Amino acid sequence: MDEDAGGRLPDRETVAPPESFVEGANVTDADLQEQFDREWPDCWARAGALLDWERPYRTVLGGEGDDREPPFGWFEGGRLNASHNCVDRHLDERKNQVAIKWEGRLGETQSYTYLDLHREVNEFAAGLRALGVEAGDVVTVYVPMIPELPIAMLACARLGAVHNVVFAGFSAEALADRMGRAESRYLLTCDGYYRRGAATNQKNRADNARISLDHDLEATVVVSRLGEELRLGEDQYGYAGLLATHSGATVDPVARAATDPLFLIYTSGTTGTPKAVTHTTGGYLAQVAWTARSVLDVEPGDTYWCSADIGWITGHSYIVYGPLALGTTTLLYEGTPDHPEKERVWEIIERNAVNVFYTAPTAIRSFMGWGEEYPDRQDLSSLRLLGTVGEPINPRAWEWYYEQIGGGECPIVDTWWQTETGAIAVSTLPGVDEMKPGSVGRPLPGIAADVVDADGEPLPPGEPGRLVLERPWPAMPASLADGDGWGPDPPGGEWRYVTGDEATVDGDGYVTLLGRIDDVINVAGQRFSTMELESRIVETEGVAEAAVIGGDDDTTGAAVYAYVSPERGHPTGDGLRARIDERIREAVGPMAVPEAVVFTPELPKTRSGKIMRRLLEDIANDEPLGDTSALRNPEVVGEIESVVREG
Ligand code: PRX
Repeated sequence: MDEDAGGRLPDRETVAPPESFVEGANVTDADLQEQFDREWPDCWARAGALLDWERPYRTVLGGEGDDREPPFGWFEGGRLNASHNCVDRHLDERKNQVAIKWEGRLGETQSYTYLDLHREVNEFAAGLRALGVEAGDVVTVYVPMIPELPIAMLACARLGAVHNVVFAGFSAEALADRMGRAESRYLLTCDGYYRRGAATNQKNRADNARISLDHDLEATVVVSRLGEELRLGEDQYGYAGLLATHSGATVDPVARAATDPLFLIYTSGTTGTPKAVTHTTGGYLAQVAWTARSVLDVEPGDTYWCSADIGWITGHSYIVYGPLALGTTTLLYEGTPDHPEKERVWEIIERNAVNVFYTAPTAIRSFMGWGEEYPDRQDLSSLRLLGTVGEPINPRAWEWYYEQIGGGECPIVDTWWQTETGAIAVSTLPGVDEMKPGSVGRPLPGIAADVVDADGEPLPPGEPGRLVLERPWPAMPASLADGDGWGPDPPGGEWRYVTGDEATVDGDGYVTLLGRIDDVINVAGQRFSTMELESRIVETEGVAEAAVIGGDDDTTGAAVYAYVSPERGHPTGDGLRARIDERIREAVGPMAVPEAVVFTPELPKTRSGKIMRRLLEDIANDEPLGDTSALRNPEVVGEIESVVREG
């Protein structure tokens, strides 16, 4: 990482929001924070008001609990449908406006107006219903960034079915695991897709997943992405054929309770298995729409581009639900930023006159490394606001983004949130707040984030501690209210949500993220559980033990490093390394393959037998080693160090 990436400076330079932006900003209310504080929780009615309700809610925050103890019932009594909110209600005013603009991997483009979107969502919903999908059923969606992905999500939402989008890069095993846990009997996949020039066989992976599942699938629908004839087995249907059968059909949106699930998504927690996060229909959609409007400054009629993948929460909230709830044009890009040329991203911005661009610090650091000649060749003057998400942004990358891409005219919103928060929770309000490069900003109005010590006591400015949320928020998952993540902290203490992140807060209340403090590592904005990767590695023949840590990486923020001790007498040549990589590829996917594997006869352990990860992190990051006196086997440290330094 850069020297300036640590973010431990107490009061960094501030940047005022550009006046040209403030004039037209969605939110310019300087005392919004105070208003929300005064009116909490009713302040969140402003988010609820952005939606169409089939039946109005009785109360903003109901439930049997108080404002700390679950269950929480956001917008209790209300009924609504997310597909109606993202599609139907825009038809009167903007049926001919583009809702989804798709930029394909091979340079193809495709536009869906709100009317087109309405037609296809209805036809696919009719098709799913004919295949037996009912409200509450879990439909797994395993396709890359093609228009059928958001269409399928909205079709599920229309029926009240729960979508379970699995990132297209996950392996067959990872897909089967997620479908099995969710007891999902319906699957949408595709024949294949292009990745770095080569076509991958997605259908094959989906078929393999189906074979290994303990339960039967009712139906699999297959999109033809490669344009070849589909080879369909029993209970498998072509997407285009299904639409043709239901051509012109309409399906009335099924009204759902605000607290009913809209979707589930798996993420990496601190355990060895994927963690299901279930988001609700009312609270989630309200906060996502609210933050898309107030933080990302999205307006109806904008062309907005979030470069994340819909397989992760960022794409769910800020490619699909937020922008479409607001009636904007959302851009979907299937390709990679450097193909066919390194100016691809800027060329897409110019050609589509993109107004708001939301990406990850990893991408910005890559762009910066490629040089300004690429953005310089394009006209980026359509941009009004820039956003970042997923990892800390170092001040140098921030400055580059602000000047080279925004021309000093576009505020940057550095947005902190998680799969579990569902929507942005900490960020500046771009038309109100000053920006501090490297620091995300204050908790949003209505969000009670704080930095606390081990006892749950708030820490003074500048002192690193645990980032927690002290009050419920509308987009909180139903699963948190069940006690998963929300609970007395420390045991016997106040109820709060522990985010797993370490942070500091400065005298102005601005939060600076320092990284994860739990067993989760964040590589280029993708989450992995160290425990999950370790369990997969030890499944490799010849491996006795493994410890996985996040090593520093200038571009991706962190890289997966594995320390592996082989079984006694097992050779550690390249063969073992290749088998470890293969096991990870098979069990998780190529994105989790370790950057480095260090073989060592033993892992450093405390006397109680716990692996000392901090020590392994320090070795990987070339940092001074802390106290090693608690080790049972201090002699291995020197050995590991010498392997790492020489290697
Ligand atoms: O560590 C924080 C980091 O990403 C984690 C959440 O990952 P995930 O659930 O995959 O969601 C990613 C996109 C919302 C957080 O616990 N993170 C997210 N945003 C930021 C961040 N770290 C620093 N700055 C951010 N803006």
